[in-house]
Amino acid sequence: MRTILFGAGGQLGVDLARLCRKRGHSLLALRRSQLDITDEPATRQRIARHNPDCVINAAAYNQVDQAESDAETAMRVNALAVRNMAFACAEAGAVLVHYSTDYVFSGEKGSPYTETDAPAPQSVYGVSKLAGETFAQAHCPAHYVLRVAGVFGPPGRHTRRGNFAEFVLRKCAQGASLRIVDDQFATPTFGPALAARTLDLIERKIPFGLYHLAGGEPVSWFDFARKIVRLAHCSADLEPIDRTHYQAQAHRPRCAALSNARVEAAGIAKMPSLDAAIAEYLRSRKRERPVRR
Ligand SMILES: NC(=O)c1ccc[n+]([C@@H]2O[C@H](COP(=O)([O-])OP(=O)(O)OC[C@H]3O[C@@H](n4cnc5c(N)ncnc54)[C@H](OP(=O)(O)O)[C@@H]3O)[C@@H](O)[C@H]2O)c1
Repeated sequence: MRTILFGAGGQLGVDLARLCRKRGHSLLALRRSQLDITDEPATRQRIARHNPDCVINAAAYNQVDQAESDAETAMRVNALAVRNMAFACAEAGAVLVHYSTDYVFSGEKGSPYTETDAPAPQSVYGVSKLAGETFAQAHCPAHYVLRVAGVFGPPGRHTRRGNFAEFVLRKCAQGASLRIVDDQFATPTFGPALAARTLDLIERKIPFGLYHLAGGEPVSWFDFARKIVRLAHCSADLEPIDRTHYQAQAHRPRCAALSNARVEAAGIAKMPSLDAAIAEYLRSRKRERPVRR
């Protein structure tokens, strides 16, 4: 299979590139320094020239708070670049895989969100990601739009943005105290498991469409931190706080847990339990080397 991967220097991108190679894809993996996806002619040219069966877009503007004051960049990267990619994929007859987020939801439903629930993003980031997924669906019939949440993959040890697990481990190593929200819930998603299931969808020709492919296990950020600390055998001064004490520019959903029922019904394996994912994370991160950008 001929595959192009955009955003190959991000935490998910590194895991995807590794796995594509292992599974024998003929892979063109492009980091940001090799291709800026907002360069529309260059992106179209790469897609037309490589003649891929599949384009995976792991590039994104993920600075949730910064997006509130830089809506233009968020929209350019998360929405308009995806629109351009979708047109180019449709023209080339390629499948487009694109990742979206639980932040497209308000978080007020009270139970895990399914693909038929109406999005109601409450932040610029959420709006930009919703626009991106809508463009992918509108312009490339052969698409997988995968909503994920709180991604933590071992390459995040060295990537620019890192991830929540690295934040917790760093604070522990510094002996710093941690105040983490206990009334905000998500379904944290283990990067390597997400990468494997992404390739399963493509390779097994699962019907195209929108799927939730997150961790499957709703947890508060405080409990997530507590599990990381316990499984890493480190000691930390952890304090639960409520979200009114967490000052941030962007509004975050209170509980945007995603249900994986649809993707599982399509034949994709269940995600690992959160404990198993964290344990694997802690083992794998030791082998990670710095990522080129
Ligand atoms: N991380 C999460 O918690 C989370 C939650 C929900 C959804 N998601 C989605 O999951 C997908 C994978 O995210 P991730 O966790 O791997 O994020 P990540 O580690 O931040 O990786 C994103 C990559 O995109 C690159 N990028 C940013 N702007 C670009 C541009 N204009 N052109 C090319 N590359 C660009 C970044 O490069 P630089 O680092 O050099 O900027 C980075 O390498 C994204 O679609 C994201 O929105 C992630």
